Amino acid sequence: MPIRASIRSTGIALPEQRLTNAELERRVDTSDTWIMERTGIRERRIANDDDTTASLAIAAGADAIKRAGLTPDDIDLLVVATATPEQPLPHTGAFVGDGLGLRCGSFDLAAGCAGFVYALITGAALLAAGNDHVLVIGAETMSRVVDPNDRGTCILFGDGAGAVVLGASTTDDDGLLAWDLGFEPSTIGLLEVPAGGSRLPSTRETLDAGSQYLRMAGTEVFRRAVRAVVDSAAATLDRAGLSVDDIAWFVPHQANLRIIEAAGQRLGIAPERTVVNVDRYGNTSAASIPLALHEASADGRIQPGELVLLSGFGAGMTWASALLRWDAA
Ligand SMILES: CC(C)(COP(=O)(O)OP(=O)(O)OC[C@H]1O[C@@H](n2cnc3c(N)ncnc32)[C@H](O)[C@@H]1OP(=O)(O)O)[C@@H](O)C(=O)NCCC(=O)NCCS
Repeated sequence: MPIRASIRSTGIALPEQRLTNAELERRVDTSDTWIMERTGIRERRIANDDDTTASLAIAAGADAIKRAGLTPDDIDLLVVATATPEQPLPHTGAFVGDGLGLRCGSFDLAAGCAGFVYALITGAALLAAGNDHVLVIGAETMSRVVDPNDRGTCILFGDGAGAVVLGASTTDDDGLLAWDLGFEPSTIGLLEVPAGGSRLPSTRETLDAGSQYLRMAGTEVFRRAVRAVVDSAAATLDRAGLSVDDIAWFVPHQANLRIIEAAGQRLGIAPERTVVNVDRYGNTSAASIPLALHEASADGRIQPGELVLLSGFGAGMTWASALLRWDAA
């Protein structure tokens, strides 16, 4: 039987500070009604000055390791998905490895808001290649790249981290059953942080122009996001020879309630089978799917043996879906 990766445990970390729509109303020209109608977001968590992407990732990772009944020595590989790295060098995984007391190798994986599902699939492949336990973390401090005065973006994003420990599945029908990764060419400018890399190093001029902040063509992203989730989720089910009726839970990237509802409707997945927490956390990019997975398994919605369909999309534009049979304890 080929080795297949299963999620053994989940863990999360959320900053305590909440940013409500009422507070945003005082900062920019917006309203609670507008935000609720267009996005479904009520509040988000915002990193304190002491919080960083790595500190949130460390807390989520420690939680997941503990819940798996393991110690840091049991982890053979760490993959950190993030669009808001600790700093350009070294990679965030080095900080997280230090903080968790790991002895294993690590790397970061950047695929925007689809990052966690990319990292999950990558981690699963590396588990199958000969590791016992792979720790996969999605962690973000989006508040550090969002312009606090841009009403088109500051209402959407939040901070947090979610982690899973992968281990070998015990049966040949558990764990990661199928997946799909994709990319739409020539859409880079729709969602980007232009400055701070080799293409446009940060200078006084880039700071004056606000190019260190995230920019987004919201309506264009919205349209493509729905299509990406629907096509990618359908392709994944197809590869597994299953249909939406077989799925117990749909866990989409939490960007906007309207995107989630539109995608669910087109796929034919009822809202009761869709995990949603965007109302409480906003869009936490690579952290959103593991946060949702953790909550839905911790409160008993996702049960062992059930099929769970994950689908993420984001800057690039990239997308990623994964179909799992849940066997986390
Ligand atoms: C950002 C988003 C909520 C905007 O909703 P929309 O229905 O597309 O709204 P539009 O951008 O067309 O803007 C409509 C109007 O509201 C205004 N507006 C934008 N943000 C606003 C805000 N926070 N409050 C009040 N008005 C706002 C616009 O200026 C525009 O005004 P105009 O008609 O006078 O020009 C929506 O496009 C979206 O969620 N897109 C996807 C974003 C996303 O998920 N990104 C991450 C992907 S991983």
